[in-house]
Amino acid sequence: MSNKYSRRDFIKTGIGVSAAAVLSSGKNLIGTQRNVGEMCVVASGNGLRATEKAMELLKQEKDPLDAVIAGVNIVEDDPEDRSVGYGGLPNEEGVVELDSSVMHGPTHNGGAVASLRNIKNPSKVAKLVMERTDHALLVGEGALRFAKAHGFKEENLLTDRARERWLSRKERLSDRDFWFPPRPEEAEGEFASFFEFHGTINCCAIDAHANLAGVTTTSGFFFKIPGRVGDSPIIGAGLFVDNDVGAAGSTGRGEANILNCGSFLVVNFMGMGSSPEEACLKALKKIAEKTKCQPHLLNDEGRPRFGLQFYAINKKGEFGGASMWSGGQFAVHDGKENKLRPCAYLFKRPDKSKKNS
Ligand code: GLY
Repeated sequence: MSNKYSRRDFIKTGIGVSAAAVLSSGKNLIGTQRNVGEMCVVASGNGLRATEKAMELLKQEKDPLDAVIAGVNIVEDDPEDRSVGYGGLPNEEGVVELDSSVMHGPTHNGGAVASLRNIKNPSKVAKLVMERTDHALLVGEGALRFAKAHGFKEENLLTDRARERWLSRKERLSDRDFWFPPRPEEAEGEFASFFEFHGTINCCAIDAHANLAGVTTTSGFFFKIPGRVGDSPIIGAGLFVDNDVGAAGSTGRGEANILNCGSFLVVNFMGMGSSPEEACLKALKKIAEKTKCQPHLLNDEGRPRFGLQFYAINKKGEFGGASMWSGGQFAVHDGKENKLRPCAYLFKRPDKSKKNS
């Protein structure tokens, strides 16, 4: 299918970029070397099975968007991943609400759903929004009705494990309501950290014809206010693909990403000549700067006290990943091996003992 969109760039120039040479600070860069024209799939750290599946499909000449969606469907279906699809952690009312977007480089088209309940594969519904409507984003009840019209079956997405986690948090929320924690001494501080787990999966790919595509899918913040929409279904924030330049996606604090058009920013930096890794770091740097306007999101050193990660591939097949804080990983299948790699980072993560500072 992708043959009709563009030709493979066979020129093997060995455009390895020494990332350390390109960002002015020159620190915390890890760097990647790629040959032009090779297939590649990148994903967030929970996406190793997704990159494996997507690469398998790329090798069968499947469309890159179908490949990445099939990849993330594995994680959406997995009850053990509490940040995505079935088994995702619920909102404050104990209801799982899912967000997803997809973007197809060759047609520069995209689709998304937000606050979708009872359907475990929002990425598949997002693709249908792209293909079967003239809209880009459907939300809530309308998104659910659209999914059902296309044959999706409603199911309860709240696993017992996720429900127990929700109940535990609700019980510890406050000593001024009718919910009591089993051990009152646990009531304070346990959930005060912005570093608290909030996953998501992003997966982007480039096929053998240098066509790009991406998908981001999530259950969003645990205990979010019902109706809260994160960055994942917002094209330009949680995902952006420009088939002439590259693809980028994100995980982490969606609000920061929405307010800064994060994934668009990464692709834009790549368009101006940055390597994928450098572009991810530049976007993080800009977001860290802008966060200074929101003191409640800063630690004692004036740095963002939340996690945010970007993953990117450029038109040459080079890839990179970077996170606000050290310790992140991302999944990469470069056509030969599929493995987790360390993310470059902007700041060294503080000691655990200081993480709520
Ligand atoms: N990045 C996922 C979210 O904020 O919902």
